Amino acid sequence: MKKKFVLFIAVIFTLAMVSSAYAGKCPQPRKTKSAPGGIAKKDNTGKANKANGEKLYQKKAKPMACKMCHGAKGGGDGKLGKALKPSPRDFTCKKTMKKVSAGQMYWIIKNGSKGTGMAPMKLKDKEIWDVIKYIREDLM
Ligand code: HEC
Repeated sequence: MKKKFVLFIAVIFTLAMVSSAYAGKCPQPRKTKSAPGGIAKKDNTGKANKANGEKLYQKKAKPMACKMCHGAKGGGDGKLGKALKPSPRDFTCKKTMKKVSAGQMYWIIKNGSKGTGMAPMKLKDKEIWDVIKYIREDLM
């Protein structure tokens, strides 16, 4: 577990060194894999707890708070995120986000986006839906 975390950090810094150019473009170039089948259409945000989602996003999520990469306001411009290539998703970019369903977000948060800084997050399913609700209602 500790070893994995060190590896994760090493990957981030390698990615950070590969490119330090943060473009901040909207629409954002996006090659993220699609969630399989019905998962993209899943949406459990109805009963989710947005306040808990905010806590996770801004502070508590493991291995790292979403804010570190996606930015406190969701602009994809967090401290670590600025240096990543591809850039963290800019949740405030409507043109790109209109193609990203709640179920798609769930899939990537749970499984990560291979080959990018977006690692699988250590969150329970319920927590994932909490954080999605927060992003979709308060940041997008
Ligand atoms: C270490 C940096 C980092 C952290 C921490 C991080 N992300 Fe990401 N995230 C990324 C990057 C980079 C991408 C872009 C991946 C790609 O282009 O496929 C991304 C993409 C995403 C996407 C877009 C998926 C799609 O289909 O377009 C979502 C949703 C997302 N992250 C949610 C989260 C949430 C929620 C958290 C916190 C629980 C989080 N991320 C933490 C770097 C990070």
